[in-house]
Amino acid sequence: MADELERPEESSETHEHDDPGAHLPPPTIWPFAFAGAVALILVGLIVSTWASAIGIVLAVIFGFLWIRDVTRDVRAAPEPEPVVAPPALTVEEGELSEPERYPRSKFLEGATLGLGAVIGGIVTVPVLGFAVAPAFVGQESPDVDLGPMDNYPEGEWRITTFTADPEKGDVTRRTAFIRYNGLKDEVPSYTILFNRCVHLGCPTQPQGRPGDEVQVETSKATVTLIPTEPSGFGCPCHGGAYDIEGNRTAGPPVRALDRFEYSIIDGSLWLGELYAVAEVEGQGADAVAVRYRATDPGVHVDGLEQYLYPITP
Ligand code: FES
Repeated sequence: MADELERPEESSETHEHDDPGAHLPPPTIWPFAFAGAVALILVGLIVSTWASAIGIVLAVIFGFLWIRDVTRDVRAAPEPEPVVAPPALTVEEGELSEPERYPRSKFLEGATLGLGAVIGGIVTVPVLGFAVAPAFVGQESPDVDLGPMDNYPEGEWRITTFTADPEKGDVTRRTAFIRYNGLKDEVPSYTILFNRCVHLGCPTQPQGRPGDEVQVETSKATVTLIPTEPSGFGCPCHGGAYDIEGNRTAGPPVRALDRFEYSIIDGSLWLGELYAVAEVEGQGADAVAVRYRATDPGVHVDGLEQYLYPITP
């Protein structure tokens, strides 16, 4: 009958979709290798740019191999034979046409990939944010007014204690050892060492008798100055020792004491950003050191160890 719904004859070839595993990608290790490479990139962002670079190269290689495995079936499939269009369905007036059908294997394939992408995003995005964001927002700078330059006589050390962030209060109290070195090329030169031990972060102490404390009111907060004549600096926690320029001389510390940048504004000494040094050559205004990004105690900033951290040969 012309009004009857005419259906194409089903052939045995159409039953290939009945196998739910027919279109699933074969098991492969590359997703795990790719995830490991991404982890290496993230770790490298914190530890070393070299590790990140190696991670990127590995991620590209493993990603390529993963895609190659997933698409192997597609690439290996023979050219489809020309399909003869089935006779059009005739539909009675008012009757809905039959909905398009998708094989279950396609659904499972898409759901697996989609679920993997969602889980990967949930795991990766927060870690990436914490690792990368500081590079864009910048390091916190103390930006502290330490008072008039006259408070720092040439060649003398002052144990200087200040509040790095007055809004946060005493939890931001810090101590630096400051010595005015005189003029260098007509520019005032200061040595400003952070007292935090670069082994595990204990407060180091000057090896010398402290003098009388002086309180100085500055534009930011109250600064405490204690004169001293140290022969070096020592850490009471594990016996770490540093010379007068902050170089490690004994014990477990892994580098020289960290230093602060500084600037002179309207005759006052202002503290700048903290930075790390591996070793200082020379003394006072003639001291020379390679400057590294501020990093945690216990972290090497140069040599082979910087790539092996936290493994210490
Ligand atoms: S924390 Fe200073 S030597 Fe260990």
